[in-house]
Amino acid sequence: MQNVYNLCNESMQGVDIMPILVARKIRKTYGKRALKQEVLKGIDLEVHEGEFVGIMGPSGSGKTTLLNVLCSIDFVTEGIVEISGKQLQKMKERDLAKFRREHLGFIFQDYNLLDTLTVKENIL
Ligand SMILES: Nc1ncnc2c1ncn2[C@@H]1O[C@H](COP(=O)(O)OP(=O)(O)OP(=O)(O)O)[C@@H](O)[C@H]1O
Ligand SMILES: [Mg+2]
Repeated sequence: MQNVYNLCNESMQGVDIMPILVARKIRKTYGKRALKQEVLKGIDLEVHEGEFVGIMGPSGSGKTTLLNVLCSIDFVTEGIVEISGKQLQKMKERDLAKFRREHLGFIFQDYNLLDTLTVKENIL
């Protein structure tokens, strides 16, 4: 995956406010030597508060990999991810756990969902 285009909220373009999420030249590689696979190949992304962003791509193109590194479930091999000005790679695990608990919500693709809860309750 090389390019993420922000298709939503074009009115935000040119507005000089700090983005809530920033990714700079992020790369993610799985495996070593002959099994090495570079999935994210230098992605730059900015998301502003209130924006609703969708990521599209064929199966295996790296959407889940990208979301995982943007939300601190996994870490980039190279590059920088910042949420609210905090660089995720520089945070200690304890601080990261607190940050996740207080600022992030996750909806997983096929597990960790509770049938008895609504979509909103599953997020909260
Ligand atoms: N933990 C992992 N270890 C090794 N390779 C992985 C790992 N996770 C994903 N991959 C590989 O990285 C590539 C991208 O996978 P990813 O799951 O991010 O794609 P995706 O776009 O989310 O696919 P889908 O639409 O099927 O959910 C695939 O080739 C996959 O096999
Ligand atoms: Mg996926």
